[in-house]
Amino acid sequence: AMSGTALAKERKELQQREVDGAADEKATIDLSAQWNDPMADPEKKNFASDSKSVRANTTKSDSIPEWKRAVQPKDQSYGKKVNMTIKEQREFLPVFAFRNLLIESVRQHQILIVVGETGSGKTTQTTQYLAEAGFANNGIIGCTQPRRVAAMSVAKRVAEEVGCVLGQEVGYSIRFEDCTSPATKIKYMTDGMLQREILQDPELVRYSVIMLDEAHERTIATDVLFALLKKALKKRSDLKVIVTSATLNAEKFSSYFNDAPIFTIPGRTYPVEILYSREPESDYLDAALVTVMQIHLTEPAGDILLFLTGQEEIDTSCEILYERMKALGSNVPELIILPVYSALPTEMQSRIFEPALSRKIVIATNIAETSITIDNIYYVIDPGFVKQKAYDPKLGMDSLIVTPISQAQANQRAGRAGRTGPGKCFRLYTEIAYQSEMLPSTIPDIQRQNISNTILMLKAMGINDLLRFDFMDPPPINATLTALEELYTLGALDNEGLLTSLGRKMTYFPMVPPLAKVLLASVKLGCSDEMISIVAMLNLASVFYRPKEKQTQADQKKAKFHDEHGDHLTLLNVYNSWKRSGYSTTWCFENFIQARSMRQAKNVREQLISIMERCHHPVVSCGRETEKVRRALCAGFFRNTARRDAGAGAGCYKTIIESTAVYLHPSSALFGKSAEWVVYHEVVLTTREYMHWSTSIEPKWLVEEVPTFFKITGMDGTMSKRQRQERIQPLYNKFAGEDDWRLSAQRR
Ligand code: CDP
Ligand code: MG
Repeated sequence: AMSGTALAKERKELQQREVDGAADEKATIDLSAQWNDPMADPEKKNFASDSKSVRANTTKSDSIPEWKRAVQPKDQSYGKKVNMTIKEQREFLPVFAFRNLLIESVRQHQILIVVGETGSGKTTQTTQYLAEAGFANNGIIGCTQPRRVAAMSVAKRVAEEVGCVLGQEVGYSIRFEDCTSPATKIKYMTDGMLQREILQDPELVRYSVIMLDEAHERTIATDVLFALLKKALKKRSDLKVIVTSATLNAEKFSSYFNDAPIFTIPGRTYPVEILYSREPESDYLDAALVTVMQIHLTEPAGDILLFLTGQEEIDTSCEILYERMKALGSNVPELIILPVYSALPTEMQSRIFEPALSRKIVIATNIAETSITIDNIYYVIDPGFVKQKAYDPKLGMDSLIVTPISQAQANQRAGRAGRTGPGKCFRLYTEIAYQSEMLPSTIPDIQRQNISNTILMLKAMGINDLLRFDFMDPPPINATLTALEELYTLGALDNEGLLTSLGRKMTYFPMVPPLAKVLLASVKLGCSDEMISIVAMLNLASVFYRPKEKQTQADQKKAKFHDEHGDHLTLLNVYNSWKRSGYSTTWCFENFIQARSMRQAKNVREQLISIMERCHHPVVSCGRETEKVRRALCAGFFRNTARRDAGAGAGCYKTIIESTAVYLHPSSALFGKSAEWVVYHEVVLTTREYMHWSTSIEPKWLVEEVPTFFKITGMDGTMSKRQRQERIQPLYNKFAGEDDWRLSAQRR
């Protein structure tokens, strides 16, 4: 359309002005010597001289990672990156004008709060500036991310900018995947990984700078790191901490960190027009897809970003959109449909950054709110929902629930449309709903989720006085008590609330306490070899491949692996068969198994074995006595147990703890069988509360494996809610100063 071309031209001019502007600012700073800062202390050894390979690599074309191909121009006239070298791209970012000021501020202050719009260059540039200024000479510059995907993709990008092989000078570390080397100077990692590191090394002696990135996301790990780093800073005057945030939380961060200065990077943002639905939408998914088509067919050029809640929803939408586009035939312009969520393979993810000829629609989870920046988005569609993990008291565990977003999130989403030029945000809710039904800001995870993992870690660090721990926002007392109780029943804490040796051993495994407990129980029971495989398999996002057109065939193949006792042993069968095939990819293909996942499982298995060896836990096989495996599962997942509710129909169960109705998933190996008692890995809420990975058990195993929780009188004597509250109460009293926790434990 005519108007589209005109607008596109206007945008290009605006962008050109930006480039020109940036070029002016550049005059004062010479970035040609990538790792040499003229301002750096001449006494200090320079970063670059430590690692000659940095420069050597820049000229070698075979060392250029895949990312580079993604930024290579496909079409010379589209997208701002097209004509720019990497150096120009770096200098184009808003943060570039503040480079020296930023370095200077870090020199002068131990803690700095950095605020700037998403896309201003905080994550990719700050670490490099500091390395260039010499901060990496005496330690690593670490940068945490709440999400795995972000840690990987940012590291990849920065390695490319620096001109090194990923994992050398620039690397990343996420759970079960360490892509760093002794040469690593800039390390991106999940906040969970740094939380594990600080457990072993409270002063983080290997690091010179820690950047807590995306701090506004307020994940539990970042919140805990706030307090632990505050402590570490007192002991290490040379350590620098940078806390970055995309939103208005800066004042709060500053006052928490002893009035640390706030460094603001003025954004380069354009106005975003906000459009609300006139009526509440009854089906937001459908409304969203209709809006996509309308934008595509009637609005001028510019890519679209649609926020949905999860992988399934995103995949389905991509399919529907694809079909609708196909139905319109070749008369309408092409629409490139790109899904984005954490579980997506990295190769797929880098596609979203590629400039393209036609309009793109990126359908993403809230990962695209702040964690990753996609250029050229002019239209945002915001249905107003997010899938969040929250503690569900009825299930006694965290579950993923779709909830309305907060106003702050809504504004952050809208802002994504105004990065390249003036944009539009279509809110699929009414203005009244925005005003009256949305919270002003999101509740931090620590106040919503199960914190037993966090408490175990703090206990392992010798932090016992949880009520006086310097949380920015403390978890609710009840959640703390639930966690303490859970850890006590797992045997990780003794009846005085102190870490037991079992609890200590659990902390060596990077996983939730029940899983760690299961592994340790398997050592005792003599089935650790099997359990390691199962745990590695449980870690996977997906194992079985079930394409629409071959569902029956896929199900038949899957049924061959089914174990009569349930899904955990079925997973073991899959792993062992794959192993017998010589870890064959063809075998995976023939059996409708995801080969990528299996390789990942093998990798996780190897890492678990090395942890076991380091801890001197024997890796032993139980052979055919797989009953031991089911027993060991009880030792950790006793809270996730249920009894068949025969009156309620096939596949219906009631949880032992709260008598909540839960259901066998039709894909379970136990489906259609009549197991009386089951233990399950988790509950996944879709159309109903489905148990995910279920295995049949004997109730007496619960009593034998977890005497702290189940009474000897057997299953009818499992603790009632009232009894458990009685036990929780004294623990609370202990923390309030009265020491009768021990008494109550004896009374029991
Ligand atoms: O952290 P902040 O949101 O301020 O910005 P950033 O993540 O450093 O991103 C700055 C720019 O780097 C983005 O606008 C992207 O163009 C680019 N980038 C990229 O191309 N690929 C990535 N994985 C990350 C960033
Ligand atoms: Mg960032």
